[in-house]
Formats: sequence, structure tokens, C-alpha cells
Amino acid sequence: MKATAGSSPASPARTASPVRIEIAPSVLAADFSRLAEELARVATADRAHVDVMDNHFVPNLTIGPAVVESLVRESPIPVDCHLMIEDPDRWAPVYVEAGVRDVTFHAEAAKAPVRLARELRAQGARAGLALRPATPVEPYLDLLEEFDLILIMTVEPGFGGQKFLDGTLPKLRRTRDAVRASGLEIQLQVDGGVGQDTVARCVEAGANVLVAGTAIFGAPDPARAVAELRAAAEAHLP
Ligand code: DX5
Ligand code: ZN
Repeated sequence: MKATAGSSPASPARTASPVRIEIAPSVLAADFSRLAEELARVATADRAHVDVMDNHFVPNLTIGPAVVESLVRESPIPVDCHLMIEDPDRWAPVYVEAGVRDVTFHAEAAKAPVRLARELRAQGARAGLALRPATPVEPYLDLLEEFDLILIMTVEPGFGGQKFLDGTLPKLRRTRDAVRASGLEIQLQVDGGVGQDTVARCVEAGANVLVAGTAIFGAPDPARAVAELRAAAEAHLP
């Protein structure tokens, strides 16, 4: 939704759209023997976050394109794939063919991130760039227009249930500032240790897409956890 001039006479003129919070349950924390049912439980969320791991880029292994294609068919909400794999230049386009709307690959793994992002967009997907906690964002700030989403990892990728790293927040703020200055519509995603205790820090530092595995699927009522996370996030919008 675009902010329109004159829509709110009391507020100053704005050029950027208002921030829209999106909640992205990570199915890594769901029951893998009944993923379709698990997705149905979080149908009030905005996107399903699906972690693809290859046991090379990270020391863990999950699912590949065939299962993702089935999930896309079953999911009541758009699927967002987080590729924690080597050679995304080769594999990321396969996930677009599987029907994924948002494909995020790691900067550390891609040989040609700009070429890959352009290829994903040409296929009709949105291109996301993910950064491990120790990867600087600065080399990418002049290339923001190539991406639809930047994922600032708030834990080392590979496993759910880890402790949120506060040390990633300055990078999130710098990314937020650069996106604002650019005037581009780029979503800022955080992933890892996001829950009621940490969501305020994330939103205040500029995140609008909140990935949460344990905090949602580990809760007795995942739909309620989605609503509560959304309420907490919206309450802390700057
Ligand atoms: C970890 C994954 C995350 C994971 C987050 O590498 O990328 O998406 O599911 O799990 P929590 O929310 O439990 O930290
Ligand atoms: Zn993830």
C-alpha cells in the first residue's frame, strides 16, 4: 500500500510506503511428517519460511526441490525459500521452477550474486540476499536495487532454537538506513532466535519480515503465536 499525499493531514509528507510487518513461520520447527497440516495451522501468517540445507554450506540437511514443490501446492500462504546451500547459482532457479515466490540465497555461497538475482527476477520470482552474522553488508549497499529482500541472519544458519545475536543489530540498522536513503522497496528479514523477547529489537532496528520457528511451532497454539508476534511487532514500529 502506497502512502498518498493528503491521506493524513497531521503527518509530514512521505515518499516511502508505510512499513508492513510480515510474519514468516519457519517450518524447520514443524513436524516434518505432516507439513501440510502444519502449514494449515499458520494460514494467518504472511509467508511460509522453508529452510533448504545441503550439509555443505551448513552442517545440517533438510529438503530439496521435490518436497518444496509439494509444499508450494499445499501451502495456504506464499512460500519463501531460504537456501543454505553451496552453488545457489546452479540451484536457486530450480526453486523458482518449483513455484517459490521468494528465493533467498547466501552472499557467501553465490559466485555471481547480481547475475543470479537477475535470473531469479527474470523467472518471475523475488530475489533475496542472505548474510551470515559475520558477513558485512557494505559491499552490497551499492547494489541494493538488484534485490527485493535482504536477510540479516540473527544466528549462525543451520539450526533452529539458537540464541539471538544482538551483535547483528547494528548491521540491520545500517541496512535499514541505506534502504531508506535509496527510496527502494526492499524488505528486511531477520531469522534466528526471533520471538516475544527479541521482536521489539528487530523491528526497532528496521526489520519488517520476521522469521520464527521455535516461537511459533514450539508454541501450544501456533496461530495464536503468529497473532501475538504480529501484535508485539506492530506495537514497536518506529
Ligand atoms: C536457521 C534457520 C531458521 C530457523 C530459525 O538456520 O534459517 O529459519 O528455523 O529457528 P528459530 O526461530 O527457532 O531460531
Ligand atoms: Zn531460515
